[in-house]
Parts: sequence; C-alpha cells; structure tokens
Amino acid sequence: MKPVIVDVDTGIDDALAITYALKSPELDVIGLTTCFGNNSLENTTRSTLVILERLRKTVPVYMGADKPLKRGITKFPLNVHGEDGLGNNFSENPVREAEAESAVDFIISQVKKRPHEITLIPVGPLTNLAQAIIKAPEIIPLFNEVIIMGGAVFAPGNVTPYSEANILADPEAADYVFSSGLPVTIVGLDVTMKTILPAATTDEWRAIGTDESRFYADMTDFYIQAYETFEPGFGGCALHDPLAVGVAIDPDFVKREEWNVKVVLDGEETGRTVASAEGEPKVQVCTEVKAEQFLDHFLGRIL
Ligand code: BDR
Ligand code: CA
Repeated sequence: MKPVIVDVDTGIDDALAITYALKSPELDVIGLTTCFGNNSLENTTRSTLVILERLRKTVPVYMGADKPLKRGITKFPLNVHGEDGLGNNFSENPVREAEAESAVDFIISQVKKRPHEITLIPVGPLTNLAQAIIKAPEIIPLFNEVIIMGGAVFAPGNVTPYSEANILADPEAADYVFSSGLPVTIVGLDVTMKTILPAATTDEWRAIGTDESRFYADMTDFYIQAYETFEPGFGGCALHDPLAVGVAIDPDFVKREEWNVKVVLDGEETGRTVASAEGEPKVQVCTEVKAEQFLDHFLGRIL
C-alpha cells in the first residue's frame, strides 16, 4: 500500500477523488489536508469531513491555508461546485472536527518520519505545499512523488483562456513548487479534459437506490449541469481530481514528458503554466491518458 496524503479544496471532483482514493486498496490515505479554493477553508474542511463521515472513515483531516501566499482570494467558483462546495447537496454538519495540527506541520512531519515513502496528491491551490517547503526545505528530496492536479501546459485554461483554476488561485505558490526540485508530476487540463464522466452515469448511480448512491448522483449532477452551462451539449463532467489519484494508483494511465514549467505571475496571462525545454528543474507533464481504462477503473471503485 502506497502511503498518500491528499491535499484538497473540496469541491465536487475533490469529493470524488477522496472517495476513489479511500476505496482503492493500492493506497493508504494517511491524512487529508485542506486548503481554500473551491470554497472558503472553513467550508472545504467541512465538506471533507462530511464526505468522510458518509463513508464512515476516520482518516484525520488537517486544516491548511485560508488564502494565497501573496495575494487575496479572487472568487470562489460557487456556480461550479455550489454554495456549500458539494452542489448544494447536504445540510448536515460533521460530528468530527479537524485535527489541531496544521496541514503544513502534518505534511512536514510525515515526510520526515517516512523519507522517500510519502506521495502527496494536491488537487487544489498549491499553498499548503509551498508553505511546507518554505518552512522545511529539507523535506524537498524526501518525497516519493508529488502528483498535482493543476495547470494547462499545452491545453487552454478553464478560468481564463490561459489559466487553470488551481494554479490561478495561487500562482506564486505554484511557481515556487514547480521550481523547487520536488519530484512533481503535473496532471493538468491536457489530460483531465480527456477523462469525461458521461452524464448518464448519475442515472445508473441513482438506480442503485442507496442513500450513498443518491448523494453521489445529486452532487455530480450539479457539476455536470455547470459544464452544460459553460458548453451546451458537453454531456458530462471532467474527472480532474480523480485522475491525479488514478495516476498514484496506476502510473500507466498516463504518458509523461519532462519540461521545465514556470507560472506567469502578472498581466492577462496570470496563472498560465509555460513549458520550456531549456532550464532546470524539470517536472513530469502528463500529455496523454488512457481515458477509457481510467474511467472503467474509477467507475469500478467509486460505488
Ligand atoms: C480544478 O479546479 C477545481 O475547481 C477542481 O476541484 C479541480 O481541482 C480543475 O481546474
Ligand atoms: Ca480541487
């Protein structure tokens, strides 16, 4: 079992990614760390705890950043993930609370305790990871792998024509991480926009007839509806965050290329991930995905 920490900004596709990770025997989810992003830190943490309680999992949750490293929050994508971050789909408050230890300290302590073993899977803004390596740069060579959902290296962005949401939410953090020497794999829109969950899936989930299946169907329908609003006829939703978990489970789902990646920090292209063959360090950029194989695997695990 591969020990992983999933760094989330829950979020509907984050919730699907958490569920996929927890239902995959290849992974040992030792903790979830939360960040602002799809909603406020308070709400992304609450949504994360709600998902865990619904799954009856006791994996600990650690709260992280409530704002970017150097700038203010632009705006939360409430039209994509709902006012509550889960498609306006639940009203309950979690019974459990987050741990007292911060996300940054949890990441640092686990990587030091288990050198070269921990895989971090950030699927929100990169603020927690940047803060961890700023505070304890000695952990940089001690990660097994850092598999990031974020960026649009060769593909167009999804918030602006250039930038993807997680990178735009904290461009300085992303740039710091990509230039740090961490063993980074970028699972960006280049591949995640090829892994589309068909809209009909939620009818199949609802037909299972359990509370759990209805919850996942309702939540995912909200996300599918958001895609439909942006692009009528889209017919599904992209499995951004689940694909990063998929790459941790089976590296063969994707093909990677080595590039030096920098983030544009100002002007209209802010948040753009720019690849160059020159320059160090190099990171691994996913450029191809076995979309059908991944989708089958995901569907086989989620419910
Ligand atoms: C990313 O942005 C968030 O809205 C999603 O949860 C995903 O992590 C996709 O650009
Ligand atoms: Ca996310």
